[in-house]
Amino acid sequence: SKEVISVPAITQFNTRSEEFFPLEWYKKMLNDNPIYYHEETDCWNVFRYDDVKKVLSDHEFFSAEGTRTILEVGAKNKEGAIPEKVSISSMDPPRHQKYRSLMSAAFTPRSLKNWEPRIQQVIQNVLNNIESNTTIDIVETYASPIPSMVMADLLGVPLEDSHLFKKWVDVLFQPSDNGDKDELEKKKQIAAKEYFQHIYPIVVRKRADPGEDIISDLLAVELDNEKFTDDEVVRTTMLLLGAGIETTSHMISSMFYSLLYDDTTLYGQLKKQPDLVPNTVEEMLRYRFQISKRHRTVKQDNEVLGVRLKKGDLVIAWMSAANMDEHMFERPFELDIHRKNNKRNLTFGIGPHFCLGAPLARLELNIALTTFLQRFSEIRPVESFHLEDNLATSAPGQSLIRLPLHVI
Ligand code: HEM
Repeated sequence: SKEVISVPAITQFNTRSEEFFPLEWYKKMLNDNPIYYHEETDCWNVFRYDDVKKVLSDHEFFSAEGTRTILEVGAKNKEGAIPEKVSISSMDPPRHQKYRSLMSAAFTPRSLKNWEPRIQQVIQNVLNNIESNTTIDIVETYASPIPSMVMADLLGVPLEDSHLFKKWVDVLFQPSDNGDKDELEKKKQIAAKEYFQHIYPIVVRKRADPGEDIISDLLAVELDNEKFTDDEVVRTTMLLLGAGIETTSHMISSMFYSLLYDDTTLYGQLKKQPDLVPNTVEEMLRYRFQISKRHRTVKQDNEVLGVRLKKGDLVIAWMSAANMDEHMFERPFELDIHRKNNKRNLTFGIGPHFCLGAPLARLELNIALTTFLQRFSEIRPVESFHLEDNLATSAPGQSLIRLPLHVI
């Protein structure tokens, strides 16, 4: 099994809030240590836009395969293992291209167009349950349920399953930095088994009677005489849930945090000019998504970053730091919803592994914000809210577990 490198060991933030929004640290690293070798963890860390881009896209020198990782995925029993063919995140071209194409059969522009009204409906239903002139926890009522409900709907499984998805994903992708490792692994194996047993019969049914959904698309796709087996489709859905639920939830809560605390005039502006929403979402992906980082393993000795890297070295690319690089973004430490080039943010990665779900995530974020703006005339922070007490370690970093606000 793979050796997992703990990111907190590299950063040593003093508080959760610091890790949630590590701008001071990024500033320091971008200026003083843009290519930084950390001895204790034996990893290279790169922060600047061009370097991050090179590490993520230059697969001749930087491999997605390798035995050390910063992300743990799945469990170690047979239900929890993500088979090689499905693990496109840790595969290099040319193999990667083939298996990514198989998976992307479910993510065509046509599917996206069909999904839009469905996502709209799911989000509208969630909103209908929120009353005006109340105090709500936006994480619990909105940010957390929406991505799992959307995924349940798009996979073509009953919407009642979405809270189970959430439960399984929370366990399966929980980091083991703190607490009892064996205990957690046991829980993960149980979750993987439950997940498998729940989804497998659905996949078998859809093989016989396909519908308009991701599972049916995955079952139908064929490339060079290769198709997914039922078993592989189950595991692909597990990978999609793992990649798509926590990330999107994190971004929805972070958008609301930004509206409440970064610039209190934004909500009113966006209500008047909803056409500014897409660029606002993009700016928030750049400025408020602070948990984006990926690793690669050096494939052959090289000096493409200007330092001597040896085959087998681990390199961590800090995309969220690259999003703050002044060589790419003017006044990077300011939130500017009118910023022209903010779509160049690296939050979804870049190169061959660019997030397969990015168009879906963008669509979801846009609909989540637009629909909310239509429903409530104003939002206000709750005075007693203390950020530090409302964060928890998630797979990729610190995430909000509660964010109360008044809706008017
Ligand atoms: C890969 C971010 C939502 C599916 C990635 C990568 C990043 C990322 C950084 C990897 C880049 C790399 O290794 O170089 C995000 C963020 C999201 C999001 C920030 C939400 C705000 C989603 C959703 C799905 C998804 C909704 C699907 C339902 C995938 C898949 C890959 C991936 C399958 C692997 C692609 C490959 O290795 O070729 N994502 N993601 N993601 N993402 Fe996302």
